[in-house]
Amino acid sequence: MKRIKIAEVLNSSQVGDKIIVKGWVRAFRSNRFIQINDGSTINNIQAVVDFESFDEAVLKKITTGASVGLTGTLVESQGAGQSIELQVSEIEIIGEANPDDVQKTVMQPKKHSLEFLREQAHLRFRTNVFGAVFRIRHGVSFAIHKFFNDKGFYYLHTPIITGSDAEGAGEMFRVSTLDPKNPPLNEDGTVDFSEDFFGKQVNLTVSGQLEAELGALALGQVYTFGPTFRAENSNTSRHLAEFWMIEPEVAFNDIVDNMDLAEEMLKYICNYIMDHFADDLKFLSEREAAEQSSKPVNERAEMTLIERLTFVTQNDFKRITYTEAIEILVNSNHYKKKKFKYDVNWGTDLQSEHERYLVEKEFKRPVIITDYPASFKAFYMRQNDNCEAGKQTVAAMDILFPGIGEMIGGSQREERLDVLKQKLVDFNIHEEELSWYLETRKFGTVPHAGFGLGFERMVMFVTGMSNIRDVIPFPRTPKNAEF
Ligand code: 4AD
Ligand code: MG
Repeated sequence: MKRIKIAEVLNSSQVGDKIIVKGWVRAFRSNRFIQINDGSTINNIQAVVDFESFDEAVLKKITTGASVGLTGTLVESQGAGQSIELQVSEIEIIGEANPDDVQKTVMQPKKHSLEFLREQAHLRFRTNVFGAVFRIRHGVSFAIHKFFNDKGFYYLHTPIITGSDAEGAGEMFRVSTLDPKNPPLNEDGTVDFSEDFFGKQVNLTVSGQLEAELGALALGQVYTFGPTFRAENSNTSRHLAEFWMIEPEVAFNDIVDNMDLAEEMLKYICNYIMDHFADDLKFLSEREAAEQSSKPVNERAEMTLIERLTFVTQNDFKRITYTEAIEILVNSNHYKKKKFKYDVNWGTDLQSEHERYLVEKEFKRPVIITDYPASFKAFYMRQNDNCEAGKQTVAAMDILFPGIGEMIGGSQREERLDVLKQKLVDFNIHEEELSWYLETRKFGTVPHAGFGLGFERMVMFVTGMSNIRDVIPFPRTPKNAEF
């Protein structure tokens, strides 16, 4: 007999079927009822043992955390909570778990804080919360690939080791095989990277965009989906030093096409998860609701997780320009009552308190802000024509989500060689460094646009988890690279 997964048993097996299931014991009550889970679903199967038919020595090994194989027949359940259960005829103990050791871990069946669970990232997969989160993480990833594949995009693998700083923020991890104690030096005392593995200074990538643009300008529409690294010292609930990013890039698209694509993708992901991960979502939604009920009424979320996802799929995102955003903020009571910590000025970047105000108080839905000042956006963004003197803007777009802040950053790209060259001068970037990028503007250049979705931020929104460390299996943050 072949083992079947618990998800399949609960979905399609019938009373009378003889089956084998294998999994880990979640609980063993009254020497009679075993709850086991195999990761295929958040739901356990209940197995019933007639303790007189088994050796006491075997029964003793059925403890929380142990792995077992159970053979038996499906019967109608007498108890509440499940419609079928497994009447066990054979027990195989596959791997034991010492109860004293289990006591010290997240497997001990009681409520643990997410912080405690984070310390045991190697074991937290065994909990209901993280089982649900990581099944959904897979689902979001799969939905993204399906979305782009169905639209005829090509998945492009861009390099992880690179010499260029696409975002120009200089927050990169260096990759080197030089001896840190005794590196070769130039005459002026600086490190001689020509002796290094690649013969030059290289880093872990902060974005695959520039390479994706080269692909898009031949293949038409491509997307990347890979790890991204940022050495920014941000210890927040929304930043990781290693995160995953999805970057579509489309030839002939302008900024409006770009917004349409992003909005469609985000809605698609929410729908996909509601359609395919209903059990996990229900669990996370109820868990969040229970947590909310312990908060003061005015701090509670207005909608449940499932309501928020439904809301996103059914409502248009609000689209405003940066200039309009500044006007709304300056005219708000919040501003007049001096409730913002940071001032609001045309020409400075919005702080997260401003973004949250727009999304959570003013519009109560995802907001797309476009046409930011050129001064604080990356060099590759397309300069808008006909700007007021001293107020040069670029065709940028940021998509802001309630509870998350920036979910997507993107833009139409500067396709005009002369304008792009001037931007490099303005940004103090040497032309030689990006000569390969500039080449695309010489041979049949076209308008094109793309964006970057922070994968973990999307998983946060879809699972309702409030800390980004809880949606990636092994988080990397400043001073933390355990496991
Ligand atoms: O806005 P960013 O920096 O945009 C880019 O990198 C562009 N090259 C994208 C493009 O146009 N192709 O980053 C994109 C998204 C952000 O909106 C955010 O969701 C996420 O990546 N992100 C992070 N997520 C987790 N931890 C961090 N440290 C992040 N930094 C950015
Ligand atoms: Mg950004």
